[in-house]
Amino acid sequence: MISEKMTEKINDQIKHELFSGHLYLSMAAYCASIDLDGFANFFIVQEQEERFHAMKFFHYIIEQDKDVKVFGLDQPETEFASLEAVIDAAWKHEQKVTGLINSLMELAISENDFATQSLLKWFIDEQVEAYKLQ
Ligand SMILES: [Fe+2]
Repeated sequence: MISEKMTEKINDQIKHELFSGHLYLSMAAYCASIDLDGFANFFIVQEQEERFHAMKFFHYIIEQDKDVKVFGLDQPETEFASLEAVIDAAWKHEQKVTGLINSLMELAISENDFATQSLLKWFIDEQVEAYKLQ
């Protein structure tokens, strides 16, 4: 079973993943507003992926017989200067998420938590794929 500290950190990560989706949906809305439908669609797909990430952590906590906590989300940016500004913000956001996943992995290693390490390996590979897309 995972530790209380790990449960808390994974619950926080669910919020971060959902916020990523929220931010990408806002980016999709901006792209649609300047008639860049292809980019809007790209960010809509990203939003679905972020929800999938959140749900992967959600189910993991339940499988570990711990309690999920769903938190409120921050307001994402809604105004962007240009498509370049959107891509730059998305890139910076993915770097932040990579840092969060790496911190979770450090905690899992320090706690000899091999089950969570195995789950996080999937996320680390996924972050590498996200960089390839940008
Ligand atoms: Fe994610």
